[in-house]
Amino acid sequence: MSHELEQLRDAALSEIGGAGDEQTLEAARVRYLGRAGSISAWADRMKSLSKEEKPVVGKLLNEARTSVTAAIAEAADRLRAAKEARELADIDISLPGTAAELGSLHPLTQMLDRAISIFRRMGFALAEGPDVETEWHCFDALNTAPDHPARNEQDTFYLPDGRLLRTHTSTVQIRTMEKAPPPIRVIAPGAAYRRDEVDATHSAQFHQIEGLYVDEKVSIGDLKGTLEFFLHELFGAETQVRFRPHYFPFTEPSFEIDVKSKALKGGEKWLEMCGCGMVHPAVFEQVNSARGDTAYDPKKWSGFAFGLGMDRLAMILFGIPDLRYFAANDLRFLRQFA
Ligand code: PHE
Repeated sequence: MSHELEQLRDAALSEIGGAGDEQTLEAARVRYLGRAGSISAWADRMKSLSKEEKPVVGKLLNEARTSVTAAIAEAADRLRAAKEARELADIDISLPGTAAELGSLHPLTQMLDRAISIFRRMGFALAEGPDVETEWHCFDALNTAPDHPARNEQDTFYLPDGRLLRTHTSTVQIRTMEKAPPPIRVIAPGAAYRRDEVDATHSAQFHQIEGLYVDEKVSIGDLKGTLEFFLHELFGAETQVRFRPHYFPFTEPSFEIDVKSKALKGGEKWLEMCGCGMVHPAVFEQVNSARGDTAYDPKKWSGFAFGLGMDRLAMILFGIPDLRYFAANDLRFLRQFA
């Protein structure tokens, strides 16, 4: 005849196997394995058993506990699966689902991300400054004469308090040098504003990436190498780059950079990309006077600066024919860059 414990185990297994819901299963668990459960109770009874009986019953007790515990886990899984199946029974999985709408980055942002990653590899950090600026940061500090046409009311948006919307990101050159002594190696992407007649290539608000590099013995070779490397990385190694002498009040000498590449839209023409030059000593002097020191001694430090037309870069990179698309918020346009 089988031992009482074995009978108890068999009763437990069949009760657990037959449990039709979680409450019944839990009641069976408490009854057999709970602290005062009938299987557990055998542990207390062990003490009063004879030496011969102890190992036999101990073994049976362990077996009973293990198999009942396993059966409870198995039954819990079975009940959970059944419950899920009941819940899913009402759902028609053949119905089309609701697609998650995924957004994408604006083409200007994509272009900027690429540009930033190229300059970052050359050790440039990001700098920034406000869109609403003082006349001093936008013009005087940049060695721009009081009668310079860029300052004209017809060209620049002035606020009633005398401040203005910056006409270029070169203001960030000044703000960066005011804050920190040389060496400096920054780029500053941002918006700029001019009273331009809006057409396919002009807008009252546009975007630039300013660059400033100040160190000892910086030369035009550094300027040229940096910008050529950047343009080749962005547009491809076959891109031709041309430096044309130009005039800016805040750089001397100054250049405009054009690119030409068969790989680009409108690739047979030279396309104007960027203004640049060697930082004018007068700019360093203005910064020194604002700082109240001589940190930017033009005899010790030299530098180059550049201002890339960001919208221009993106138009060329993606073959976009009209600047106005960038701000029109038309999904048919934006989705092409997803
Ligand atoms: N700020 C100039 C512009 O907007 C570009 C420029 C930047 C030129 C830095 C030289 C150096 O046209």
